[in-house]
Amino acid sequence: MYVFKAAVLGAGTMGAEIAQVISLSGLPVVLKDVDQAQLDRGMAHIRDIYARRVQRGRISEREAEDRIALVTPQTDYRGFADVDLVLEAVPEKLALKQAVLAEVEGQVAKTALLATNTSALPVTEVGAKLQKPQRLVGMHFFFPASVMKLVEVIAGEQTDEESVDSAVEFVEGIRRIAVRVRECPGFLVNRVLMAGLAEVFRAERDLGLGPKEIDALIAASGLAPMGPYALADALGLDIAQEVSETLKEAYGERFDLGGRISGLIADGKRGAKSGEGFYTYTG
Ligand SMILES: NC(=O)c1ccc[n+]([C@@H]2O[C@H](COP(=O)([O-])OP(=O)(O)OC[C@H]3O[C@@H](n4cnc5c(N)ncnc54)[C@H](O)[C@@H]3O)[C@@H](O)[C@H]2O)c1
Repeated sequence: MYVFKAAVLGAGTMGAEIAQVISLSGLPVVLKDVDQAQLDRGMAHIRDIYARRVQRGRISEREAEDRIALVTPQTDYRGFADVDLVLEAVPEKLALKQAVLAEVEGQVAKTALLATNTSALPVTEVGAKLQKPQRLVGMHFFFPASVMKLVEVIAGEQTDEESVDSAVEFVEGIRRIAVRVRECPGFLVNRVLMAGLAEVFRAERDLGLGPKEIDALIAASGLAPMGPYALADALGLDIAQEVSETLKEAYGERFDLGGRISGLIADGKRGAKSGEGFYTYTG
């Protein structure tokens, strides 16, 4: 199925980035949120991404304006009748995702593809309240989606083959690399990432090193473009905590973060988006 028009639900950390990627490929995309302030922030973020592309000479100012105009920010369901793909990127709460998808199912055509950007929830459960769960796929982008090329495409137990194929086609059409992944807690990438983060926190404790030193060592080793603490801040500490809890439940203690993040979250430090996490952010 060809996607002529897409919609993204949630204009937060991920939703805005994903809408930017879709618009860059020339497709119109509705960006819906329940919070006007979040929509404004999301659109400002999209403009920033395009401004940087213009600065780097990747795109002309005129082209950037045309692409930005493809994104329609709104708080209602106007224009959903001819949307071919809806991707939800609302907070990582199962009941919320189920409710949001069940609601949107009543707004789109019967043929529309539905997708969830969940980091760790089973796609089967996310789709449990749908009338047609066959058309729900996991479409897991990584932060920052405007840069990261990989997208995991996950079939739930009920997802049909046609929906998975359509999702892969869409992902490739927006110039991303689709990897088909079996449904399991954490899928592929978060399973590896969270096990690594737990190990880094254990090393911090055992070796008596601090976040800055560990980040500097890992960056210098060339293993990753940024250290694990900076990455956790960028992902959002609350999201990292939720994902690690799910994985700990599934695979056991090796995913335990040893309380390294929960204390920060309790103090309102949720990473870069809240201005503070392991590091402090201004502006
Ligand atoms: N942050 C990451 O690095 C990352 C990476 C990959 C996947 N994810 C997943 O993406 C999803 C979104 O995460 P995020 O970090 O962007 O969260 P976020 O908190 O930054 O943004 C969520 C947005 O959803 C909006 N929202 C809440 N209820 C809504 C509703 N009923 N309809 C429309 N919008 C609604 C909120 O107002 C907010 O703007 C989660 O499932 C998360 O696990 C996050």
